[in-house]
Amino acid sequence: MRVLVTGRLPGHILAMLEKEHTVEINSTDRPMSREQILVQVNDKQGLLCMITDRIDCELIDRASRLKIIANCGVGFNNIDIRAAAAKSIPVTNTPDVLTDATADLTFALILAVSRRIVEGDKKVRAGRFDPWAPLYFLGQEVSGKTLGIIGLGRIGEAVAKRAAGFGMQIFYYKQERLDTDAEKNLGVVYAPMEKLLSESDFISLHVPLTAHTRHLVGEKELNLMKASAYLVNTSRGPVVDEKALLKALENKRIQGAGMDVYENEPELTPGLTALDNVVLLPHMGSATIETRTQMARLAVENLLAGLRGEVPPNCVNSVQ
Ligand code: DGY
Repeated sequence: MRVLVTGRLPGHILAMLEKEHTVEINSTDRPMSREQILVQVNDKQGLLCMITDRIDCELIDRASRLKIIANCGVGFNNIDIRAAAAKSIPVTNTPDVLTDATADLTFALILAVSRRIVEGDKKVRAGRFDPWAPLYFLGQEVSGKTLGIIGLGRIGEAVAKRAAGFGMQIFYYKQERLDTDAEKNLGVVYAPMEKLLSESDFISLHVPLTAHTRHLVGEKELNLMKASAYLVNTSRGPVVDEKALLKALENKRIQGAGMDVYENEPELTPGLTALDNVVLLPHMGSATIETRTQMARLAVENLLAGLRGEVPPNCVNSVQ
């Protein structure tokens, strides 16, 4: 069968696919344009796409031979899964394998922003390494503080486990509260949004992007946060109203932010890069050799199963 792979994958993983099928691949690290995808997907039975590709109703309608859409990512807000289900096309994602890498990066951001790591590095490189002094270059302590986790799925839980190592008190908010044993095992305390926002020293977002979570954190929520608190986002950019965040950072309404994701990637709201109280990363939560290799492997396995006519292991839509 014919397959379109819209981004570069590790060679030995791609070989698994090429052994069984005819593969057309974008072998650059730049996303394919929508027009290119529309043209090239036309005669394909399989599509292995990236989280940067918009796989919408129009594209799904035009790709009349598709049997499977395998996303190389756990988030699948880039795909109209209902339009795919209506055509009996399974859509898959890559859960679990990126949990630790993303939780690690979340903690890297928590530490980087509160301990002013990036600012410090810039200073040293600029030759402005001022001598040690008791009140010089102070940040905020992480150990023993309160972390508020919004969205306690796999990644949120992995962040909670790391926070326990820092002796943090952990609040969480999620739509369905955990049972008491699970809360006890993880060492987390349920808090309604308002309490979590107003009492946490660090707030970390781990929700998928849906119509309900778009702008979950906006001006109102930022105003509830302590002036000394930090917001960290490694989920999806549109979960935060970026303009409202910029204002809160500029006015020192909150202490700082760590961002890996943005509302209009790769564009940033103008003004963000001028600020010292925000650490800005280029959507690299899952970017380790180990994790990206496993994500690619999982996406290929899902795709192969779909091409065999099986319900693939990580199917996220209901297909008959
Ligand atoms: C995902 O898989 O959804 C991540 O955002 C990619 O890093």
